[in-house]
Amino acid sequence: MERWSSNLGFILAAVGSAVGIGNIWRFSSVVGQNGGGAYLVPYFLAVLCFAVPLMILEMAVGRHLRSSVVSSFALAGEKLKIFGWLICLIVLLILSYYLVIMGWTLAYLTFSLLGRDIAFSAFTSSMQPVAYFLISALATGIIVSLGVREGIERIVSYLIPLAFVILVVLVIFCLSLPGFRPGMDFFLRPDFSALARPGVWSAAFGQAFFSLSVGMGILITYGAYMPENTDIGKSALIITISDIAAALLAGTAIFSLVFTFGLQPTAGAELAFTTLPKAFELMPYGSFFSIAFFALLFSAALTSAISMMEVNVASIIGETGMTRRKASLILTIILIITGLAPALSYSQVDLRFQGLQILDLMDETVGTMGLPIAAFLVAIIFKWFMKPDVQKGMTGTAEVWLCTLNFLTKYAIPAVLLIITISTLIGL
Ligand code: PFF
Repeated sequence: MERWSSNLGFILAAVGSAVGIGNIWRFSSVVGQNGGGAYLVPYFLAVLCFAVPLMILEMAVGRHLRSSVVSSFALAGEKLKIFGWLICLIVLLILSYYLVIMGWTLAYLTFSLLGRDIAFSAFTSSMQPVAYFLISALATGIIVSLGVREGIERIVSYLIPLAFVILVVLVIFCLSLPGFRPGMDFFLRPDFSALARPGVWSAAFGQAFFSLSVGMGILITYGAYMPENTDIGKSALIITISDIAAALLAGTAIFSLVFTFGLQPTAGAELAFTTLPKAFELMPYGSFFSIAFFALLFSAALTSAISMMEVNVASIIGETGMTRRKASLILTIILIITGLAPALSYSQVDLRFQGLQILDLMDETVGTMGLPIAAFLVAIIFKWFMKPDVQKGMTGTAEVWLCTLNFLTKYAIPAVLLIITISTLIGL
């Protein structure tokens, strides 16, 4: 089995998976639509009490079993393997529309570099989104085919530091903008009345799992390549802090810009591609910041897409013994086929199902429902069916923490995930 060259390699890859479009684009639009700062309370609660313990469980399983998701499920019970494939399918479907959005970020990076000013509506009424989707899928496939060290670790060791440098530079610039204070007021001022809305809670939980890439077997896969002496608790802390920092920095920059230029903070999904380019047009050094912002979005998306692809590639290799190159090639072809529909839905073709664009439909079904289902399976299978309890093997962790983790991952997390899934199903 391949290994990261060091613990840092593992951490960078895991941060690369966590920090993605979810932190920069999804987080600010969800905050904007859910009462600004009020949303941060359930979000932090979801991160600390639910996402982090599950992240620790996944890493412990990965390091202990040193297997892909499907093979790990098989080790818990041969009949459970099918659930491993189900998780792979959910990840694959999420990845197929994630690559479409990654294509948009690449397109806007290209437009910024060329100094072209193209409205999102003009872009999505051409065939360009499909072309950029294909480039994104190929780039992801090629990097994964190069291997854990030569492909994934090498690329994240450039892109993750770059992403954080860009974020910090953006925020420093935004501190001097007149919209900084009102922006922060909106972003961080708690509006506790929003907490009474159940929708805010399920949005916060969904975002916490999505943002930290937890519950999708990514950390089982990446954890299988980590060095023997890795401190799992400390690694989880570093990954979580980096992910939260990226989201807060991005939110600071985005809301300062939005309030400086009198734009709409509740624009939702359109925020990054329609609202912000307007701000870049109006601000000093706008073209530089536009390039920086879309380079940041693209780097973050690429390192997350790589992790989703690796879950599937590792499972195919583990189950069939196929070479990495062949597995990556097959998977890239499958992704191009499954991603075509969401790509076409935001193009000239305007592909829809029952009036809804396919990409939105996929996000509202697999993106929203698939994640809690996958996370539920991970918790149940590794806490109830797996013997021995892999968390017991986490040496150096105090007994009280192990008991808390055990309680959360065995009882509290599956219960909450079940409630979220059922309430989403019945449309609460
Ligand atoms: N965590 C990534 C983000 O915030 O954009 C997205 C993501 C990656 C979600 C991997 C799910 C996943 F399995």
